[in-house]
Amino acid sequence: MDAIPLARTRLGEAEHSAVGRVLTSGRLARGPEIAAFEAEFARFQSQSHACSIASGTAGISVVLAALGIGPGDEVLLPALTFVGSVNAILACGATPVLCDVDEESWNIDPNDARRRITSRTRAILVVHLFGLPADLAECARIAAECGLELIEDACEAMGAETSLGLAGSVGTAGVFGFYPNKVVTTGEGGMIVTDDRELHERCQAIANQGRDQRGHFVARGHSLRMTELGAAVGRAQLSSLAPRLRERVEIAERIAASLRELPVRLPCGTSRARSWFTFPIVLPDGSQRSRIVEAMAARGVETAPHFPALHRLGAPYAWLEPEVHTPVAESVGGRLLCLPLWEGMESVHLARVADALREALK
Ligand SMILES: Cc1ncc(COP(=O)(O)O)c(C=O)c1O
Repeated sequence: MDAIPLARTRLGEAEHSAVGRVLTSGRLARGPEIAAFEAEFARFQSQSHACSIASGTAGISVVLAALGIGPGDEVLLPALTFVGSVNAILACGATPVLCDVDEESWNIDPNDARRRITSRTRAILVVHLFGLPADLAECARIAAECGLELIEDACEAMGAETSLGLAGSVGTAGVFGFYPNKVVTTGEGGMIVTDDRELHERCQAIANQGRDQRGHFVARGHSLRMTELGAAVGRAQLSSLAPRLRERVEIAERIAASLRELPVRLPCGTSRARSWFTFPIVLPDGSQRSRIVEAMAARGVETAPHFPALHRLGAPYAWLEPEVHTPVAESVGGRLLCLPLWEGMESVHLARVADALREALK
């Protein structure tokens, strides 16, 4: 019996021919595929500009640097997120300030964020965790009132809709990640979107060794470009996004139905409000999590204990623990478990996941 992976990328004819097209062209970097992917992505997000980038983490870091955020500045972010969110802040020398999350959505609690603002705070990095949009209206209000930048970590939220527009298109800039567990993948990669032309041009320059489009050095830079191969695959993935998002919603609804009788907390919100790249649940007891991961693995079902609160990741991140605690992030982060969700999952897979979890919980 085949193991059921946590994530699986569906790569079809369009992706294969995209790669072939690039190889035939002989142009592997800074060519027409990048230009087309950026234009198509910006159009999809209804934003004026899109800047392709080597990863989601690099994208957040480049946006912060382009906004002039660095040593001595504080950036608010939820304590419950993937480590890439905080690594991006650390990479540009700023100080991350962890905020608690909302009990229901597991996204940043705007009231808690407001309490942590100091004279050094420069930005709020909202994360749309597990594809569910955070409370952007309230975060935007706080940012406007306090003169802060609002940056969206939309790495997990490709195609998620909010009342203000698509996730990633509401703040000063939005950043997407294209690792293969995501709904759109380029292998490795990411995208920055914004309506601010100057910010976009600074991001482009920082990602390209500090050079502007004419080759002049205008910023201290880095080498963080996407490849033509990645961009070509990304274009194919983006063009098939709508039906794939719908399929993921249907699968999420079926997973939820299959787990309804089990003593676990299911992700909140209507299933359509999320862009589903995994199926997160909260276990009744975090001390059982490792055992449950192992028991399900023994039955051929891959799961992941994502995400612990950032300051619970281990020694390198322990210093992030805030003086004023983040009890919800700790409690939820100590009990989260991600279950497989990918396009093409069939009833037999869903039944095996539910059975493995039921047995493991006994
Ligand atoms: C919430 C969040 N932020 C940032 C990232 C960083 O993405 P990458 O792995 O492309 O650097 C990810 C991707 O996994 C993510 O889930």
